[in-house]
Amino acid sequence: MTDKTTQKMTGASGADQVAERLGTPTDLSSNATKGIAAVLNGLLADSFALYLKTKNFHWHMSGPHFRDYHLMLDKQSTQIFEMTDPMAERVRKIGHLTMHSISEIGRTQHVVDNNDAYVTPGAMLAELRDDNHKLAARMREAHETCDDGKDVASASLLEVWIDETERRTWFLFEATRAASADGH
Ligand SMILES: [Fe+2]
Repeated sequence: MTDKTTQKMTGASGADQVAERLGTPTDLSSNATKGIAAVLNGLLADSFALYLKTKNFHWHMSGPHFRDYHLMLDKQSTQIFEMTDPMAERVRKIGHLTMHSISEIGRTQHVVDNNDAYVTPGAMLAELRDDNHKLAARMREAHETCDDGKDVASASLLEVWIDETERRTWFLFEATRAASADGH
């Protein structure tokens, strides 16, 4: 189909069409929204990647603490997933485009995937602890970008997400301390 509404929007004129059709009006400066959209899209890709990694470890957990760890990671994955929709919608509300696909997430994420067939329970928890720890730091940087651009709504959401991410890090930190003590 070559109808104007269905043709792929690429190139300079395509970019104009995208701006015209998807450029939600905002009173924030265009320089500011560009930077905020970039950091939020980075966090969005990380959230999807960390969601799936947490689910991966939830599904492949093993050992005597299976029930505790399996349930903890399920709760954490739900909390991570719940960030994604409001995060993506903040990007759209300030007039920018957000993630379109798994491949775009893969190109954007900082979180490193773990495709190993078997990971020890201790290594799983330690990896997630470090991923959440780093994610909180990136969220704090994003908060600064939002502050600089006067985007108080994104900053406010980030404050909650930072607290939640620190809570996940805390639980994982305590669980890994117990894990290292008994070698599991
Ligand atoms: Fe499950």
